[in-house]
Amino acid sequence: MAVPVVVAGVNGHGRSHLAELRRLGEQGRARLVGICDLVPPDQELSTGLGAVEYDRDLGALLKRTGAEVTLVATPIHTHLPLARTALEHGSHLFLEKPPTASLAEFEELRAALRAHGAACQVGFQSLGSSAVPAARELIAEGTIGDVRGISGKGRWVRTTAYYKRSVWAGRRRMDGHDVVDGALTNPFAHMVATALALAGAGELPPPISRSSCSAPTRSRATTPRACACAPRRVSRSASRPRCARPRTRPRS
Ligand SMILES: NC(=O)c1ccc[n+]([C@@H]2O[C@H](COP(=O)([O-])OP(=O)(O)OC[C@H]3O[C@@H](n4cnc5c(N)ncnc54)[C@H](O)[C@@H]3O)[C@@H](O)[C@H]2O)c1
Repeated sequence: MAVPVVVAGVNGHGRSHLAELRRLGEQGRARLVGICDLVPPDQELSTGLGAVEYDRDLGALLKRTGAEVTLVATPIHTHLPLARTALEHGSHLFLEKPPTASLAEFEELRAALRAHGAACQVGFQSLGSSAVPAARELIAEGTIGDVRGISGKGRWVRTTAYYKRSVWAGRRRMDGHDVVDGALTNPFAHMVATALALAGAGELPPPISRSSCSAPTRSRATTPRACACAPRRVSRSASRPRCARPRTRPRS
């Protein structure tokens, strides 16, 4: 049966989600039942979507439509409040990346998801690609040798127009709220998430303190942080968080 979905935030990246929902609608897998945005969708956006409810208020929209999934493609600092509203109305979530503006907000989100027993997918496209499991298999088989680090490169051009498209773009804080829209937290978040997936990260491990980390500390000139261990090899059975980053080979 087609899953009823509402989308919050449709005038930016949300457009691509509407396009995908049109496709899933044709396949009978999902049904767009409502749009929430501060700005009503224009004629072009509404074309081919059928009779869809619109509201500026996500809670009111969810109450009217009974949507089972809420897709949030709004500015970063609005993700957590909208996610809370969706969960309170018994909806599952698709949250655009980055899911929240800070780790503290992320923990709040995780607690709310647990309390409501809801599922949440974050919009990291690569995690839906078969390339990541294929690369992990190559790593596991040793086909590409000993993996000593994972890095990413991006060459997206962000012009002034990009940062002028919306008031929140490129801001660290706005109206007293964290936004944290930076290169690493937004576009490069795709790479961080992909790197973590390649490293085998699943559940967030407990924080690793400097004192419990056995990885060798390289000089500050090359590695500014004492330890940047990927969670892959962190022992979960140990009562004390233990870092087991593979030791770097002695330099010749
Ligand atoms: N996965 C990807 O590749 C990708 C690409 C681009 C953007 N994004 C993410 O999508 C999100 C939105 O980015 P964008 O560039 O589309 O932003 P945008 O500012 O261009 O569009 C945001 C939309 O949300 C609406 N909106 C703002 N506050 C709202 C609220 N409280 N309730 C309902 N609607 C509200 C705005 O009117 C607008 O239509 C961000 O989290 C961004 O990081 C993801």
